[in-house]
Amino acid sequence: MAPLSSPQKNNPKRQRLKQSIRSLIEFRGASELDQNQFQSTARKLYDGPAGAVLYLASKLSLHDPLVGRILKTRRFDVTEFRNILDIGAGAGQILGHLLRETHPEARLVACDLSHQMLKRARTRMGSPRPDYLSADLTCLPFQDESFDCVTCGWVLEYLKDPRHGLSEIYRVLQPGGSLFLMATEDRFSGMLNSATWKCRTYNRIELQQAFEETGLPWKEQHWFTPIHQFLKLGGIIVEATKPLEAVEELTADAVSTTTQS
Ligand SMILES: C[S@@+](CC[C@H](N)C(=O)[O-])C[C@H]1O[C@@H](n2cnc3c(N)ncnc32)[C@H](O)[C@@H]1O
Repeated sequence: MAPLSSPQKNNPKRQRLKQSIRSLIEFRGASELDQNQFQSTARKLYDGPAGAVLYLASKLSLHDPLVGRILKTRRFDVTEFRNILDIGAGAGQILGHLLRETHPEARLVACDLSHQMLKRARTRMGSPRPDYLSADLTCLPFQDESFDCVTCGWVLEYLKDPRHGLSEIYRVLQPGGSLFLMATEDRFSGMLNSATWKCRTYNRIELQQAFEETGLPWKEQHWFTPIHQFLKLGGIIVEATKPLEAVEELTADAVSTTTQS
């Protein structure tokens, strides 16, 4: 895949300052490690004590209840879905809300890179309903078009190139299916998050471009509350839909352009 182009920098001085702060605070592994090393850092982190306190951390930061509120108030409506995949389920934060808000017969599948996190999620859910399986976002063990909904909260930041995960999500989603994804933004709070949870951050415009390149245009950007929206806090929370019509592969376009020239 070609490198993602950088977003327009409308204020170079401000961008330079942001870059300096970023280099001081953000987890450097995201740029210095290769994808395998980056992934193994993430697996070790979540298998260990940090993973054990993840649930408590998401309660204290209010992320967990605020995600629940988005689902409960139907701002992202999960009631119609029947096949739902939660990628990077962690301690089951989103899964718990899905158990409550989805149709009782909807199939729920939770996957995670970390075996320990899957164990923790299973224990915490205490429900026979979800299927749990160890899987990597960039290589999902499911057939094409298996799910009408994918949720993926704070996982994409463990990929150096988001398109490797987004193209897998695109593949497993049915046409017309929905993706609800949350990711750490390249703002000050996101940088602190990156240092704590050894992940990268995303520029909102760059991430939107990656979604478009993989055929998943953003349908809506969500905010936890109007205060989060005003202060631009809480990270990138987006809903995307896989179009009903198959989207032409960019690579196919590129090949035909090369052949013509
Ligand atoms: C910050 S936690 C998010 C937990 C939960 N989704 C939430 O919304 O709070 C990130 C989770 O993603 C998992 N993870 C990291 N990289 C992954 C990958 N490539 N594939 C699947 N899971 C991954 C980690 O093991 C961890 O459990």
